[in-house]
Amino acid sequence: MAGRALSIGILTSGGDCPGLNAAIRGVAKATLGMGEARIVGIADGYRGLIEGRARELGPRDLSGILTLGGTILGASREKPFGERGGDFKTDADEGMDKPELIKANYRKLGLDCLVVLGGNGTQTTAALLQAEGLEVIGLPKTIDNDLWGTDVSFGFHSAVGVATEAIDRLHSTASSHNRVMVIELMGHKAGWLALYAGIAGGGDVVLLPEIPYDPAAIAGHLRRRAAEGKSFSIVVVAEGALSLAESRLDKKERRRLRAASPFPSIGYRVAAEIEEATGAEARVTVLGYLQRGGVPAPYDRLLATSLGAAAADLIRRGDFGRMVALRGGTIGSVALAEVAGKTRKIPDGHELLVAARRVGTCLGDA
Ligand code: F6P
Repeated sequence: MAGRALSIGILTSGGDCPGLNAAIRGVAKATLGMGEARIVGIADGYRGLIEGRARELGPRDLSGILTLGGTILGASREKPFGERGGDFKTDADEGMDKPELIKANYRKLGLDCLVVLGGNGTQTTAALLQAEGLEVIGLPKTIDNDLWGTDVSFGFHSAVGVATEAIDRLHSTASSHNRVMVIELMGHKAGWLALYAGIAGGGDVVLLPEIPYDPAAIAGHLRRRAAEGKSFSIVVVAEGALSLAESRLDKKERRRLRAASPFPSIGYRVAAEIEEATGAEARVTVLGYLQRGGVPAPYDRLLATSLGAAAADLIRRGDFGRMVALRGGTIGSVALAEVAGKTRKIPDGHELLVAARRVGTCLGDA
């Protein structure tokens, strides 16, 4: 596309996180730096593209956003191809389904390429749009770090920092009151955030979606700690953690049981199980959206800027249908079609699982 000004659309989709604005800045400044280019910011993820809500971003929009949390464009969890990808939702008012509206607005906006910043769902949609003939580039974003194809996504290390600081703070109140403090972290499908923060924060028990937990194993570990004179314990629970009993149920049955549960979330259930089994006093902190808020950690600013610059390179080369990624410690890219529909879970035997066990952390299974 040498010669005429490039017109690049950018959208941010899925849960927000620190680093999104650093990534927007990285893509936009690197693209503008390549010569004639126009940056179109699309509002609220794919929903803004369906509705045609977009505005040109100029240098003033990109100034001072490197350290700004959230996303200046807004985000949504809109899935234009439906939950499973591929079964279209028809928009009766327009007579066009959402993918058709996206393609129409892509053309109306005069875009040469669409850059999408997001997690699993976002990149799956990106792959489907590429297959529909749009030119799409993905950047990996999620605090869960469960995006396949990249060693790490931006947002993750900022969330690890927030969660680790929270765990540090819980140590002082746990020891003052001789309590078991349970902290519930985000991470539905994969437990990367709980694993990293659990180890960094010195959690005594770390419960992950990947390793169904046995309440008796947790109780035994806490009783041993008490017998050794340890007056408090810290239990780190990923919101997607499952008990052994739950892991043997099918998803529908598991959802039914969870809906009928008296506990608002897994952290409260684990605390009740601990109190019942050990007689210890337990308290719960659900860290929630604090893990997605605030200023990006320096690592995420670096990663977002590097990924943004790499996206501009792919655009310059016309190498579309790819997600830029950190692979083997260097910035590269992977085909969107390979990323779509996959989740990056903690593999058995991962070095951090080995390290945790070596330092005596209970992972709920022994
Ligand atoms: O983006 C990932 C995530 O933060 C999960 O860890 C969390 O469970 C979910 O998003 C919350 O989604 P929402 O922002 O739609 O409440």
